[in-house]
Amino acid sequence: MIRKSLILALVLAFGALFAVQASGDTFTEKDVERWMEQYKKVAQEGRALWTSPELGTNGVACAQCHPNGANTHPETYPKFQKQLGKVVPIREMINWCIQNPLEGEPLKLDDPKMTAIEAYLNWERRGVKLEPGKH
Ligand code: HEC
Repeated sequence: MIRKSLILALVLAFGALFAVQASGDTFTEKDVERWMEQYKKVAQEGRALWTSPELGTNGVACAQCHPNGANTHPETYPKFQKQLGKVVPIREMINWCIQNPLEGEPLKLDDPKMTAIEAYLNWERRGVKLEPGKH
């Protein structure tokens, strides 16, 4: 009898443990606001990079050919790009433009500047339907 109730107690304790872990995922509206602020800050850094010549060596900025992120189509990535001959994430096309029109050094794919540029481009295209692979 004692053993049975011990087992029952253990089972209940485990259940409670999982319940606590599951509820650890909850967040408040304040959290969401705070996270959105963080995102917008990064997207603004991306916009600053977009309109400045600092990514290249020849004084050219992304915004000269892609004003407000025009013709970048982040919603179509990953996709095949003929310049690179394979299916790539948008980061590789961002680097392609840094190296070619801007004559600059490619960014590391996890460079915070790369994240900022992507955050900005996705913000400009928010609400657009995802269409991976599309040309
Ligand atoms: C001198 C003009 C020019 C400048 C400046 C330029 N690009 Fe581009 N960009 C192009 C051309 C041309 C393409 C190729 C279009 C294609 O084949 O899809 C392109 C393509 C892209 C694409 C893929 C578009 C798609 O539809 O898939 C991205 C993303 C991109 N550029 C980002 C950038 C970024 C980031 C910068 C600044 C570092 C930049 N571009 C600067 C001309 C430019």
